[in-house]
Amino acid sequence: MIVKKLTAENIDEYRELRLRGLIEDSDSFLRTYEEEVNITKTFYLHRFTNEWAADENFILGGFSNNELIGFVGFRREYQEKVKHKSLLWGMYVVPELRKKGVGKILIEEILRRTNNMKGLEQINLAVITKNEPAKNLYKSYGFQVYGTEKNAVKSNGIYLDEDFMVLILKKH
Ligand SMILES: CC(C)(COP(=O)(O)OP(=O)(O)OC[C@H]1O[C@@H](n2cnc3c(N)ncnc32)[C@H](O)[C@@H]1OP(=O)(O)O)[C@@H](O)C(=O)NCCC(=O)NCCS
Repeated sequence: MIVKKLTAENIDEYRELRLRGLIEDSDSFLRTYEEEVNITKTFYLHRFTNEWAADENFILGGFSNNELIGFVGFRREYQEKVKHKSLLWGMYVVPELRKKGVGKILIEEILRRTNNMKGLEQINLAVITKNEPAKNLYKSYGFQVYGTEKNAVKSNGIYLDEDFMVLILKKH
């Protein structure tokens, strides 16, 4: 598998997989399919050529035989008082290739890149409490749950709790 930063060239395949995830794994994402399907290509073009084109704000894609099979978003906070923190978001691997280490490779590439981010001290993320596959993956890299929000999400009338996790990075 090859991991690279997604660019405007990847908009169609990224969008297609995001929409698939929003249908098949709707509990894993905050946005609904109906919200995302109406987002225009121009909007994505803007994001991929502006904020997601930065060294510390990007989406990584995993490719197998030139096909996008998974992705994960990363964003470092930029304001002075919070720039020691970053956020991992929007992680997804296609169902047919899960449990084969794709998620691990994506996380490892994030961690490799954070090594070059001076002053970065922690990676935060939010995950639905009952999402054991994702929580196990994050825990295996040292992420720890530091809080839980009851009823954080209300999806079709059903409430879901959300865990907040943090990985404290080695200072450099
Ligand atoms: C969470 C997700 C990204 C994991 O991707 P993946 O490629 O299957 O993960 P990996 O194969 O690299 O697995 C790494 C570790 O995660 C954990 N894990 C993955 N799938 C698991 C499962 N079904 N049950 C329990 N643990 C699981 C294990 O600790 C595993 O390590 P192991 O294989 O040594 O036991 C994938 O399941 C997914 O896309 N889920 C839907 C979207 C989602 O939940 N995103 C996260 C939102 S916060």
